[in-house]
Amino acid sequence: MTTPQTGLHTGSHDLPVSPALDAFMATRWAPTPLPADRRAPGHDRLPGRHARLSAAFPGERLVVPAGRLKVRCNDLDHRFRPHSAYAWLTCLTGEDQADHVLVLEPTGPAGHEPVLYLRPRSPRSGGHAAGSEFYRDRRYGEFWVGRRPDLAEAAALTGLRTEHLDDLGKLLTGPQPPTRVLAGTDPLVDEATGRPGPHARADGELAAVLSELRLVKDTWEVDQLQLAVDHTVTGFQDVVRALPTALHHPRGERWIEGVFDLRARAEGNGTSYTTIAASGAHACVLHWIRNDGALDPDSLLLLDAGVETDTLYAADITRTLPLSGTFNPVQRQAYDLVLAAQSAGIAALRPGARFRDFHRAAMRVIAEGLADWGVLRIPAEQALEDDNGLHRRYTLCGSGHMLGLDYHDCARARADRYLDGVLEPGMVLTVEPGLYLQPDDETLPVELRGLGIRIEDDLVITPDGARLMSHALPRTAPAIESWMSDLLR
Ligand code: GLY
Ligand code: MN
Ligand code: MN
Repeated sequence: MTTPQTGLHTGSHDLPVSPALDAFMATRWAPTPLPADRRAPGHDRLPGRHARLSAAFPGERLVVPAGRLKVRCNDLDHRFRPHSAYAWLTCLTGEDQADHVLVLEPTGPAGHEPVLYLRPRSPRSGGHAAGSEFYRDRRYGEFWVGRRPDLAEAAALTGLRTEHLDDLGKLLTGPQPPTRVLAGTDPLVDEATGRPGPHARADGELAAVLSELRLVKDTWEVDQLQLAVDHTVTGFQDVVRALPTALHHPRGERWIEGVFDLRARAEGNGTSYTTIAASGAHACVLHWIRNDGALDPDSLLLLDAGVETDTLYAADITRTLPLSGTFNPVQRQAYDLVLAAQSAGIAALRPGARFRDFHRAAMRVIAEGLADWGVLRIPAEQALEDDNGLHRRYTLCGSGHMLGLDYHDCARARADRYLDGVLEPGMVLTVEPGLYLQPDDETLPVELRGLGIRIEDDLVITPDGARLMSHALPRTAPAIESWMSDLLR
């Protein structure tokens, strides 16, 4: 190919295609329709979700893109995962959703019709660029990346009206009702609709509402989250069984990551976030994802990992394990303090409690423990005052977050609904206090330096409290020791 910009004749490693081959490729393909009864898992929830979103923005066009492919190098893209708001509104979660856009078109002063703009299955007609896409296009061709549904099939999967993505530009640049966009998700949609611009507040409200509508999970979503948790439990068991091999590998943390990620990929879409496998003082780095260390057999291993289901629901669990199989007295002392904090946090979960309450309950235990140890040299009460917080040198972050389609779910929700809000049945969240005693922290006795401990579980708020979804993993030190011993037997 000679490009006009450079005048250079360049080409990929693919050989040119002759007209004879192109004509041949256009013929004699048998029909291969999807089974007529195939439906996207969870699709029956869509009308209710659309109705709630519609009620928030009467008379306005709402544009929710899936997002676009991102080049990794040359003609290779990163694996695609649709934006969680798009997944929630379509129940379409596959890699084939790249570039697609859901539009809620106002049908009058109230009510909307959801319309899905998508790139349908590659045609097989040959003789023109779109016609040879199926065997020549590395990004979208069926023979390169797999089959997409056609418009009728996508309509059957979702129950939504479907239109060709090529018609979206006309819609977005034609006569405009008041429009809100999930901005920052698809640069082409942003450009077509004049983002960024004077719409930031309106668009921000759409993003906030899309987060807030997802704060309370329905029963199908809770089942999906339980599935994510169950697969994660299996992944943790795999890791313990792999410890003898990992301990002998110069990058044992990487081995652990690989073992967990294998389970995540085999059972679900993959991991909910990059696996954290941290031996010894690496555990004092909250998001240690370099995972390039050896496993020190006398240290603790902090494993923070979660499986994401094919429907994109996330688990997020941490266990801190003694690599020797037994906590030594100092490790045990620190572990038991974090466990007591987590138990206090879990006990504070109930409908009507404030989101901040479980964090406060956990931090009270930590601050009192640190004061008892003489690490915190002021009274716990004083440290716990908002304008003090000195204990936070050793805890660094909040004690939990909402969990759902994203592992840090509902992150655009307004503070009055989330951070300063009240818990309701159906909310799913993590409780994950930690102690991060940095190896170079001169305020600490030498024996405590380099200990990093987090215990993280996933819970659903019930009408009278909370259910521990990750109960299949042991939490107490003796239970962890005997669980490890059983798995390694
Ligand atoms: N992996 C970070 C977190 O647990 O929130
Ligand atoms: Mn985590
Ligand atoms: Mn978490």
